[in-house]
Amino acid sequence: MSLERTLTVRVERISRQTPEILAFELAHPWGRPLPSYEAGAHIDVHMPGGFSRQYSLARAPSAASAGSYVIGVKRELSSRGGSASMHERVREGDLLPISAPRNTFPLREEATHHLLLAGGIGMTPLLAMAQALAARGAAFTLCVFARSEEHLAFADALHAPALAPHLRLHLDQGDASQRIDLRSLLAERASGTHLYVCGPGGFMQAVRDAAAHWPEDALHAEYFAAPTDANTTTGLPFTLKLSRRGITVPVAADQTAVDALHEVGIDIPVSCQQGLCGTCVVEGDGEGAEHRDFCLTGSERRHKVALCCSRAKGQELELQL
Ligand code: FES
Repeated sequence: MSLERTLTVRVERISRQTPEILAFELAHPWGRPLPSYEAGAHIDVHMPGGFSRQYSLARAPSAASAGSYVIGVKRELSSRGGSASMHERVREGDLLPISAPRNTFPLREEATHHLLLAGGIGMTPLLAMAQALAARGAAFTLCVFARSEEHLAFADALHAPALAPHLRLHLDQGDASQRIDLRSLLAERASGTHLYVCGPGGFMQAVRDAAAHWPEDALHAEYFAAPTDANTTTGLPFTLKLSRRGITVPVAADQTAVDALHEVGIDIPVSCQQGLCGTCVVEGDGEGAEHRDFCLTGSERRHKVALCCSRAKGQELELQL
């Protein structure tokens, strides 16, 4: 396996958003434009201590923001690595290696209405999406779930005139009449509505349960971490059939497809290795795959496979490699 190429950015500004969340503005060290991106995209940040994490870009791309990226980092209580490293060791002026932006959570052009559901720090990609939708005059609703105003990150951006008419705010400790009941919100789907969700695991599951009757292609989710019960590494042995090379490669029970390919000299770029980021996705017989990723949509799964985690349904899986 091989890690993706990185670029170096300077930490321009660090601002406290909530007691647990810091925003980092990252810019090119010599003031050059950074690679372009679309709302919903994320970057890998390689941080002090050898940790690497994915963070969504929390601002819609625009000419005014071409020189920098903004990410939000929540300090997880259990963290001894990634988020703690960002909070404790990274200072303004530091240089950080990052990946180019990658988007596995794009807005759907075919949607006639976009329903964005954000739980806590999961707001970051959805804020960028809401700003992009507002800029193009699209129909959307942004529902943000937070504990209280004090725990609401990027509050200025949320309350900006362009977003305010589209914003519904659910505060656990706020006015009971303003709270959002997911089951009634999602009970009926207006034709053409697409639902996007990002947040902690419990929130994601609650949304998925409430939207269980929605068509799979109208549901889009961005996960921060694989669910704790997810198995992304082992399973039954199978064979990869590489149609372009005309060879087969065995994958052992305790091996991933990426590892098996690496053993025969075929390097597939990886990043998260948990099925989250989309770096290792290749074209192949998606219908023959046991998909274990959290980044491909239902329609993408027909012809794509995330090789860091997914396996064959049967004894063989054909890939366009
Ligand atoms: S490496 Fe991130 S999805 Fe496979």
